[in-house]
Amino acid sequence: MDGPRVVEAVGYQPAALRGRSLPLLLSLADGRLALTKLMGNPQTTRALIADLVMTRLGRLVGAPVPEPLLVHVPSARLCDIPPLRIRPWISGLQYGAVFAGGAVPVEPLSDSEKLINLQTLPLAAMLETWIDNTDLKASHLLAVPGPAGPSLLVVDHGHALPGAPRWTPATLAAGLASAPDLSALTALARAARRHFDFRAALDALLAVTEDQLADLVAGVPRAWGLPASHAESLLGFLLRRQVALPAWGRQLAAQWSV
Ligand SMILES: Nc1ncnc2c1ncn2[C@@H]1O[C@H](COP(=O)(O)OP(=O)(O)O)[C@@H](O)[C@H]1O
Ligand SMILES: [Mg+2]
Repeated sequence: MDGPRVVEAVGYQPAALRGRSLPLLLSLADGRLALTKLMGNPQTTRALIADLVMTRLGRLVGAPVPEPLLVHVPSARLCDIPPLRIRPWISGLQYGAVFAGGAVPVEPLSDSEKLINLQTLPLAAMLETWIDNTDLKASHLLAVPGPAGPSLLVVDHGHALPGAPRWTPATLAAGLASAPDLSALTALARAARRHFDFRAALDALLAVTEDQLADLVAGVPRAWGLPASHAESLLGFLLRRQVALPAWGRQLAAQWSV
């Protein structure tokens, strides 16, 4: 599998982004914008690892998550970004998610039936269960406007993994069976009043191979300081929980059935 795409940051766009990691909106050399989380942010550099690995996993299986990137911010560029002047930051590769302009939090009652990718809801729910994303709140479920209608986008995977964001091999081992709160996604599913197909979602998730998972973990930039023992535990955590997905899928399908 190819490694994560690296794109150069070329500018800064002032934007009121709410997030404990103090994300920035940076313009990229390819003309797009990326919500960028920097090394050394208050949520720790460790949170970038979950964001990168889990969002790449989501894209691999076709879940409604943003395109993940590595945003290269050279030291000269850091000096041009006003909010960064008050404390020192670390130049180099940062985590970026391609920014969806005009996105607003989904309103389950009025939006659910209009979402053009509503069929991806079981995939989204099973992915977030697999990675134990404990930060799956309504403000992370966005409706992105588009010509054919709004589409669902699930953002912020920095709090995936037990013990997030400061997870360790010990917190992953202790949380092997923990299941995240999926109520925000369940509210969306219930409001849609339709039958969801979990079989296709499970097939997509179970088709991810150990080599692919190892490649995702290996794609973490060296500068983000993931110790080899943590990388190994992360891979083991994902492999062990993948096996449990069919049982979780059956439970969720029963909860969502109309
Ligand atoms: N790819 C994206 N496109 C559009 N808006 C986004 C995107 N990613 C995040 N956001 C918005 O920015 C906010 C902050 O981003 P988030 O990833 O939640 O940062 P933090 O880890 O600091 O909480 C989100 O709550 C959401 O409203
Ligand atoms: Mg957030």
